[in-house]
Amino acid sequence: MGAMLPETTATRSFDDLPAPRGIPWFGNALQIDSLQFHVTLENWARQFGSMYRFQGGPRKLMVVSDPTLIGTMLRDRPDAFRRTVRSERVLKELGTTGVFSAEGDEWRRQRKLVMRALTPEVIRNFFPTLKLLTERLLTRWQAASAAGRKVNVLRDLKAWTLDVTIWLAMGQDINTLEHDANPLQRDIETIFNRVARRLTAPISYWRYFKLPADREADAASARIKEAATEFVAQVRARMEANPALRAKPTNLLEAFVAARDEADSGFTDTHVIGNAITMVFAGEDTTSNTIAWLLDFLARNPSVAGKLAEESDAILGANPVLNEFASLERFTYLDAAVNEAMRIKPVAPFLGLETNKEQVVGGVLVPPRTPIIVMLRLAGMNPADFPEPGEFRPERWLGAKPPVNDDPARKLFPFGGGPRFCPGRYLAMAEIKMAVSMVAKNFRVGLDKNPAEVRELFTFTMTPSSLPVHLVARQGGQ
Ligand code: HEM
Repeated sequence: MGAMLPETTATRSFDDLPAPRGIPWFGNALQIDSLQFHVTLENWARQFGSMYRFQGGPRKLMVVSDPTLIGTMLRDRPDAFRRTVRSERVLKELGTTGVFSAEGDEWRRQRKLVMRALTPEVIRNFFPTLKLLTERLLTRWQAASAAGRKVNVLRDLKAWTLDVTIWLAMGQDINTLEHDANPLQRDIETIFNRVARRLTAPISYWRYFKLPADREADAASARIKEAATEFVAQVRARMEANPALRAKPTNLLEAFVAARDEADSGFTDTHVIGNAITMVFAGEDTTSNTIAWLLDFLARNPSVAGKLAEESDAILGANPVLNEFASLERFTYLDAAVNEAMRIKPVAPFLGLETNKEQVVGGVLVPPRTPIIVMLRLAGMNPADFPEPGEFRPERWLGAKPPVNDDPARKLFPFGGGPRFCPGRYLAMAEIKMAVSMVAKNFRVGLDKNPAEVRELFTFTMTPSSLPVHLVARQGGQ
């Protein structure tokens, strides 16, 4: 609770915080373009310091970018801080009621369910599927390369992570990589766009009247729920036919159902379905965008790409795709490159928290129910911790590990922190390593001629506006 914060006595009131100048009623809302939400907040932090406030319509918000304070607040959940009430309502209204939006004891219960399903063992059992899907991606890109066709890398990565996540979370091979316009894919995208728009909207108009886009989102949400319910029924039928699956689940849905069906589990089918959908939302764009940002860095940093190719050649040997789960641990340089890409281009550049009650934060007395945005990326851009912070240098993650208290890694939160840190981290790293080692082994990543400027768009996750890279088959790459 509050006692865990470094300072428990307030020296300033909330209104003493510096703030950008706003206008009556709207506050600063009109100064924020929702696609550039994070950039505006970061620019204000440079101007107003590591703690400031702003006003989004009727709501007063606080913004914090000191890494130590951020770490403490993330740890102090779910008691002192929660996710924002707005994000909980928006996600619930669109049918994603799972661990991400739950609070208090309900969160504790659901977190247990999710942690039981996202163990390294379940990921290991899932590995043959991950390998198969990575081979599918390779085959598609090889065919395009042989025919001299340019690959839409961003589109394919998105389709690939959606296929991986749907197979993992729902047990279905929907193959959007090779077949466009899958209805489930369309519905998921509809929901994604609505969630992003509603999270940053100045007022919650849809609770009073619905635009066609809002009605379409409701229909999409109902269809996703119906599909997930059918998938749960299929899993139960499979488990009946093959009871060994209960002890050795090969995907998340099987693990969820096995946990749910234990005596006195406290879980219901609603928990299972809500969390299967939550996994898709939390696991898809986050992973594809992280890979996309990394490939963009590789295209612009040929020497890093060269070292990755060397490492992948050594670990994959004659195989075009990694074929041993245990070897995922061996990618030291790739690990460093992923860390570095996530430091400069984290797909979650900030997180929204909210005080449960009156609370002292960094010496400021913050009223109950105040949203506090913690600026995760800024924490990793301090030159004292990361010299020349704008430079992409995987090497800064290699070599002897510094003592814990001086370890700059503790100031980075690409997967969040504290008890609500991302439970999909291990899976995400497995996916990233499979895809990027396949690329490094088989292709050279080139930067397009006259590449368009790549802008960061905040669409729930931070997406590149384009990915101006192309893949050239490596001579003797396989
Ligand atoms: C590179 C990929 C990913 C990144 C960068 C990422 C990042 C994050 C971040 C920053 C949070 C918030 C943590 C916090 O509040 O402290 C989070 C939460 C979460 N992530 Fe991920 N994530 C990724 C992939 C995944 C995957 C693949 C899954 C599952 C299949 C997943 C499932 C979740 C869930 C369920 C939560 C909510 C946890 C809770 O509230 O207790 N994520 N993730």
